Amino acid sequence: MNPLNLPLKILFPIFSLLFLFHCTNSSQILSGFSATPQNSLQSDFQPLLTDISGNFSLGFLKIQQFSLLLCIMHLPGSITEPIWSANSDHLARWSSTHLSFNDTLVLSDSRSSPIWSINGDGDRVVLLSTGNLQLLRESGNKESPFVVWQSFDHPTDTLMQGQNFTASMNLVSSLSITDTSKGKYSMRLNEDFLGLYADFHGNKEQLYWSRKATQEKARIKPGLGPIYARLEPRGFLAMYQTETSLVDVLAFESFQFEAGLRKLRLEPDGNLRAFYWNNSKWVIDFEAITDPCQLPSFCGPYGLCNNGGCSCLNNQTLYTPDWWCYTGQSEDLCNGLNGFRVLRREKVELPFKQLMDQGTVGSLEECEDSCERNCSCWGAMYNNISRVCYSVMYPVQTLVEVGSEGRFGYVKVGLERERGERNRVAEVVLLVVACVVLVGVGAFGVWSWWHRKKQAGFDGLLQEGLAPGSYRDLKAVSGSVELCNR
Ligand SMILES: *[C@@H]1O[C@H](CO)[C@@H](O)[C@H](O)[C@H]1NC(C)=O
Ligand SMILES: *[C@@H]1O[C@H](CO)[C@@H](O)[C@H](O)[C@H]1NC(C)=O
Ligand SMILES: *[C@@H]1O[C@H](CO)[C@@H](O)[C@H](O)[C@H]1NC(C)=O
Ligand SMILES: *[C@@H]1O[C@H](CO)[C@@H](O)[C@H](O)[C@H]1NC(C)=O
Ligand SMILES: *[C@@H]1O[C@H](CO)[C@@H](O)[C@H](O)[C@H]1NC(C)=O
Ligand SMILES: *[C@@H]1O[C@H](CO)[C@@H](O)[C@H](O)[C@H]1NC(C)=O
Ligand SMILES: *[C@@H]1O[C@H](CO)[C@@H](O)[C@H](O)[C@H]1NC(C)=O
Repeated sequence: MNPLNLPLKILFPIFSLLFLFHCTNSSQILSGFSATPQNSLQSDFQPLLTDISGNFSLGFLKIQQFSLLLCIMHLPGSITEPIWSANSDHLARWSSTHLSFNDTLVLSDSRSSPIWSINGDGDRVVLLSTGNLQLLRESGNKESPFVVWQSFDHPTDTLMQGQNFTASMNLVSSLSITDTSKGKYSMRLNEDFLGLYADFHGNKEQLYWSRKATQEKARIKPGLGPIYARLEPRGFLAMYQTETSLVDVLAFESFQFEAGLRKLRLEPDGNLRAFYWNNSKWVIDFEAITDPCQLPSFCGPYGLCNNGGCSCLNNQTLYTPDWWCYTGQSEDLCNGLNGFRVLRREKVELPFKQLMDQGTVGSLEECEDSCERNCSCWGAMYNNISRVCYSVMYPVQTLVEVGSEGRFGYVKVGLERERGERNRVAEVVLLVVACVVLVGVGAFGVWSWWHRKKQAGFDGLLQEGLAPGSYRDLKAVSGSVELCNR
């Protein structure tokens, strides 16, 4: 046996361990890879796999201190806005999650079954400089390994330049800027149009924006298969039927300008926006809905929008961006348990009314009546000039205030929702009372501590052992302040 072998045998594992430790942020993920979140991070994003350009990275994003999202970031841009995420519908725990690779990539929690995994087996995972994460399997041809899975086929809320968006995919908005769980809006391709849909009741989707693919000279040939869309480097969203038959061009403001990188995002407010990277920031160059009042729920449920400003449909409730006009679950008017109250308001219209269910009726009474009798109907809007009656088949969201006479709104308010409202008021009142009491007790504690300290002097205080008790009182004060600030 070569005597050099022994030290090598000992040193090699040590070196490879060091190597592994240093290269947890590597250019590819191979079998045996395992990563856990680190607590000593400067930023909330911990990169694990970075593409060769250094522009994109797959990593752990810390969300609200304790949760973990496995996602891809565009590093020069904002590192709070992922371009793709694995587990947005099921956040993991920062403290007990790990990512491992052995045939496939698995995100798991020590206590439960895998939170997320790729369905398929491969040899390695790579991140391309387009932002596409791929699971590859070696094939006979070494130049082109077989792509088992790619993140570009499973978009979340963002479409990157060069990514194909097909009829079997959808973009789903996230709930808010800080909450990445699934929101109410989605984008889908249909036979001949691209549509944005809102889901306010879990059973009926409402189309609120659409783009028909007939703007180009070429017509859609029936039977040629579904169309697909792609964000092109020269500033437009293209719809194709085949690679050689372009059926639509949705041009952005920077049309024909070759930017370095582009993305299209379905935003938490339901708007679809395109951006290009100008080497220092993402610049918006397209917005599907330019008037905020035409967004599906700009001011929330039962809100009223006027030139981008918000108030509430009933004049008694004060609009606040946190509470909106109503909160709580939207209940079902058809289960027969809860009644409803009617709210009427003049000079209001529905946003995107041309896309709503509608019919022509003889009078306002007829319009209201048809909604009154149908428990799936949450509201009706009537225009007494055109005599068109629009129905809203989900809990009414934001209406648009208009100047013209003769636009009538009829809105059902579920009584359970109102009860929820009253409970909330009760909750707030209780909280305030509790805070006042706690502050009072705390103040008394401080006062008595101060009083006794003055009487006994510092030595006496220590002897009497009063300090711990007064500390508790002080804690109660600070605790109550926290409670009030919530
Ligand atoms: C990173 O992105 C910028 C802007 O798009 C681009 O100019 C640059 O070439 C990219 N980096 C690399 C190494 O490709
Ligand atoms: C990886 O997978 C192979 C085959 O499924 C299995 O034999 C092996 O034990 C696994 N290795 C680890 C570290 O889990
Ligand atoms: C998009 O689709 C075209 C045509 O099918 C294909 O050539 C191209 O490789 C696809 N791009 C990606 C990133 O999958
Ligand atoms: C990118 O846009 C920002 C803000 O609009 C601007 O200040 C900056 O100069 C732009 N950068 C380049 C390289 O154009
Ligand atoms: C609210 O106030 C407006 C304007 O003052 C009025 O036109 C409307 O009828 C009121 N609506 C309700 C529901 O009280
Ligand atoms: C309620 O209205 C919807 C949509 O117009 C309709 O499909 C449904 O049949 C109606 N239900 C009843 C009970 O009239
Ligand atoms: C429409 O309603 C307005 C406001 O109530 C009223 O002044 C007008 O006469 C109505 N027009 C018709 C054609 O009924």
